[in-house]
Amino acid sequence: MPGSVNPRVQRFLAERTKLFKASEIRELLKLTEGREIISFAGGLPDPETFPREELAEVAREVILERGREALQYSPTPGVTEFRRVLKDFLRGNGVAVNPDDDVIITTGSQEALYLIGKIFIDPGDVVFVEAPTYLAALNAFRQFGARFMSAPVDEDGMKTDVLEERVKEAEREGLRLKMIYTIPTSQNPSGVTMSMERRKHLLEIAEAHDLIVVEDDPYSFFTFEEVDVKPLKTLDKSGRVIYLGTLSKILSPGLRIGWALAENWVVTSMELAKQSVDLHSSTLSQYIAMEAIRRGLVDKTVEKARKIYRVKRDAMLESLEDYFPQGCSWTKPVGGLFIFAYLPEGIDTKAMLPEALERGVAYVPGASFFAEGGGENTMRLNFSYPSVTQIREGIRRLGLLIKEKIGEA
Ligand SMILES: Cc1ncc(COP(=O)(O)O)c(C=O)c1O
Repeated sequence: MPGSVNPRVQRFLAERTKLFKASEIRELLKLTEGREIISFAGGLPDPETFPREELAEVAREVILERGREALQYSPTPGVTEFRRVLKDFLRGNGVAVNPDDDVIITTGSQEALYLIGKIFIDPGDVVFVEAPTYLAALNAFRQFGARFMSAPVDEDGMKTDVLEERVKEAEREGLRLKMIYTIPTSQNPSGVTMSMERRKHLLEIAEAHDLIVVEDDPYSFFTFEEVDVKPLKTLDKSGRVIYLGTLSKILSPGLRIGWALAENWVVTSMELAKQSVDLHSSTLSQYIAMEAIRRGLVDKTVEKARKIYRVKRDAMLESLEDYFPQGCSWTKPVGGLFIFAYLPEGIDTKAMLPEALERGVAYVPGASFFAEGGGENTMRLNFSYPSVTQIREGIRRLGLLIKEKIGEA
């Protein structure tokens, strides 16, 4: 809960509000606003990837020619025509859409995470996650009282042998097991991609212990290297995967268009929950997104993003080689927006952040991505937003700071 709430008004707040966790890091990073800081902290796409001219044209046409519907209220699960276009788009990208499946349009995939928490999680229900994992998913599920159990990742993604052990441990303890939440491709924050073997193993575990699988997939459409993997949704044979996607990284996050593809009963429950959240996601955004997909604007953005991000990732990997001292290691992502770095044990990246900010560089300390603690010596570095020059200079400054910490400089 935000620490700044006046004690006098505490009694008005619902118990669940006390489960909201204010991010200390967000507070710290607020201090960077308006300052000349090289930021590796955010997760913003490069604005160069936004097809601004074409989107302006689409928006104008949509408003003038289809404005009677596009500016109107629309059905809670989304504009019917757009849902059809989206299903075809997903099929075309190798995501299986089964006869019993349906799709619901959400306000970014963040809303889908929230709705999933709302329809599935009772206090104490166990959610299995990667360590580290996406912080905003932890926070969305935490609000509903989720209990997290995690399995670490290595370069092949979530260690499913550990996952299996944790599932058995939860069963032995008599806990209520609900779901596995995973970001299998170009994971946020670690950047790693789960191997096919582990994907199959994860599904076997889900099957054997009757768990729902939430596959969060904002990044697989624009990997910058060939990866021979299929979505869990496509590999799934028992209809237990809920597949989340978003246009945030492949068109524009400002449109706030995400989706969940799952068996009908899941979509229907999400729809009921969504009604009281926002009635429906922006009709105008849905019409713009539909036309953007139809006209190939998403494919074009993906091609551009691939090129830009590959160059930036390589610049960051090279700078890390050049400037980070011995004893540090980092992931080599095939896609996504992040590299995750492991510093020598004993360095606390949260304690080091104010010093980094002093030197004009920001990152996200890794510990908050670990649901069960640990990761104090890790950091998440975003390479999509800063320029190549900023990447080199920022990593040089960070490298120097780390060297000072370990007494090398
Ligand atoms: C793993 C993951 N899930 C969900 C989201 C939320 O994206 P949006 O709400 O913009 O679709 C992000 C954004 O960075 C993400 O990295």
